[in-house]
Amino acid sequence: MNAERHIGQDRVRIDGPLKVTGTAPYAYEQPTDAPLHLYPLTSSVPRGRVRSIDARAAEALPGVQLVLTYENAPKLLVKADPELYILQSPDVLYWGQFIGAVVADTPEIARHAASLVTVTYDEAPFDAHFRPDHPQAYRPRRVNAFKKTDTHEGDVEAALAHAPVTVDQAYTTPTEHHNPIEPHPVTAIWHAEHPLNVTARRLTLYDANQGPVFHLMVLAPMLGLLPAQMIIHTPYVGGSFGTKGMPHAHLILTALAAKTLPGRPVKYAMTRQQMFDTTGYRPESHQRVRLAASADGRLTALTHDAVAPTARWKEFVEQTATASRIMYAAPNRRTTHRAVPLDIPASMFMRAPGEFTGMFALETAMDELAVTLDLDPIELRRRNEPARDPETGRPWSGRHLTQCLTEGARLFGWDQRPPTATRRRGEWHYGMGVAASTYPDQHLLSTWAAVHYRQGRYHVQLQASDIGTGAWTILAQIAADALQVGVDRIHLEIGRSDLPLAMGAGGSMGTYTWGSSIMAAAAQFTHKYGPTPPDGARVQARGLRPRDFRKYSRHAFGAHFAEVRVSRVTGEVRVTRLLGVYDPGRIINPRTANSQFIGGMTMGLSAALHEESYLDPRYGHVVNRDLAGYHIAAHADVPDIQARWIEHPDYAFGPTGAKGIGEIGIVGVPAAIGNAIYNATGKRLRALPFTPDRLL
Ligand code: MOS
Repeated sequence: MNAERHIGQDRVRIDGPLKVTGTAPYAYEQPTDAPLHLYPLTSSVPRGRVRSIDARAAEALPGVQLVLTYENAPKLLVKADPELYILQSPDVLYWGQFIGAVVADTPEIARHAASLVTVTYDEAPFDAHFRPDHPQAYRPRRVNAFKKTDTHEGDVEAALAHAPVTVDQAYTTPTEHHNPIEPHPVTAIWHAEHPLNVTARRLTLYDANQGPVFHLMVLAPMLGLLPAQMIIHTPYVGGSFGTKGMPHAHLILTALAAKTLPGRPVKYAMTRQQMFDTTGYRPESHQRVRLAASADGRLTALTHDAVAPTARWKEFVEQTATASRIMYAAPNRRTTHRAVPLDIPASMFMRAPGEFTGMFALETAMDELAVTLDLDPIELRRRNEPARDPETGRPWSGRHLTQCLTEGARLFGWDQRPPTATRRRGEWHYGMGVAASTYPDQHLLSTWAAVHYRQGRYHVQLQASDIGTGAWTILAQIAADALQVGVDRIHLEIGRSDLPLAMGAGGSMGTYTWGSSIMAAAAQFTHKYGPTPPDGARVQARGLRPRDFRKYSRHAFGAHFAEVRVSRVTGEVRVTRLLGVYDPGRIINPRTANSQFIGGMTMGLSAALHEESYLDPRYGHVVNRDLAGYHIAAHADVPDIQARWIEHPDYAFGPTGAKGIGEIGIVGVPAAIGNAIYNATGKRLRALPFTPDRLL
């Protein structure tokens, strides 16, 4: 048998040629017949009620087909998600909320007409000012991904009071917006209804999302449709980072317009600016970390308290302190999350929602402890390596952090790290830093896949979506091995809601959940039909979570190393080298995996040096609402970035042995860079991003 010929092989992206030649049909480019174009009306107050809308000038403009407002919009049937429940009343919950739309023959007419609509408001008092000691701060019931809000073991206060060495510091991270290269596009077609046949009612959406499963589950009932009456296509996706993981209000807005104009495709390409209000973001954070240690660097207490804002009307809280529950051994431990309700747009998950945020604080604090103890930070981590998960007591399914640190130190030349603030050339200080990374198994639901044999090819079908990760390629590799055929015999069908139900491309779980369902379907298919299946043979099967997955604590790990130079004159930080060494389980395709890792590290670098959204508390809106004002790393910022991995297949995640690699690359990178800045300059930065003003 030719087992495992494709998994583990370096393969270029199957979808690469289509993308680089500009011929991959993205959602906005789907061919449609005589489409109309939508431009939204958005609120210009952060809270209140629409008093009046004067649309006469817009409606009089030639080419305008519809001005949609709460006064004439179709009713939504379910109020499951307040973010999506738009145009049902004059209420305004946040600045930039959709309060209507103009639909016209061209995008230009729609946009111009929207500018002619006059809206007046009854403004209500609002509060958009985040501070960690806000009197309304409350304890949420759960944080992202159904994690516990608080944990507490032992007596942290006594341990802190008696320890010879302690660290007690506050760390902050700013609001960040996802900013994929493709702002959210949608085309909605409400197929004309037959008055006597309501089941002929159908909605087609061409969308860009991380997988249509939640979109269908949430949108269909709101629009009064059975799941079978709605189809969502997500053909190619120009990046996401979380923002396209859940449906946002633009989909409802466009669907309501399409319902009002049945039979006509309605297109809406969101502007970059509108993304800053309506499609989620990473909330800012204020964190306090306290560490207590013995003189030889063994932690005796660890506390991590996180506070962050949430929209008053839709709760979202990052799992900021959860990584601190599993990272290091300490007998006395406490973690808490608190939320401050404000009149702001809804935040949501963004690449490593919580691990990114919290590991900046924890891994900076560990560096501060190493400095206080005059101990190498790698040695400090080694001394606090827990044999079992400190929170649950469960054995690790695989934890090779120490190996990552040791191997990284060797590759990076860690022994060349200078003593603090001693290496200088001209105006530049030089230094090196290290930080650990981790990301958990987020596996919530089992997923399905089908194998359908037609005309000599195996059509492998599931609801997955490739948001730029390489899923098109690696799923074909997994299917080829599972069916024991060549990759050229596999025809992958993903990105449609009428395919077998699967999770989205989120939580770094795509590969191991989709992989397990493909392997299950392939095994049943082979069992049923053998090596020469008849044309039309089809099997659908469910990929189950491993039977004993709960026995283990399941996490990916990694170590990030950074080298920086910092200008004494301007405070400018340049990252000269970045290395990530990972414990990612099985690697399906080294080329696409490498790309995921260095992409994550680049995003971490970008967050370390640049990214910050300014929400003006006086007006409740984001000020730097485009890529001129919201800075992300440019090519010149990105140095020699290298990713390596230590491959220990982990079958507690699933039968592929993969742990997931989408998020591990970003976690800890800002701490590694900040720790390198400390090594270079002796200056400790505890607030992201590390802009020059913070170094002068
Ligand atoms: Mo992503 S933040 O795992 O959707």
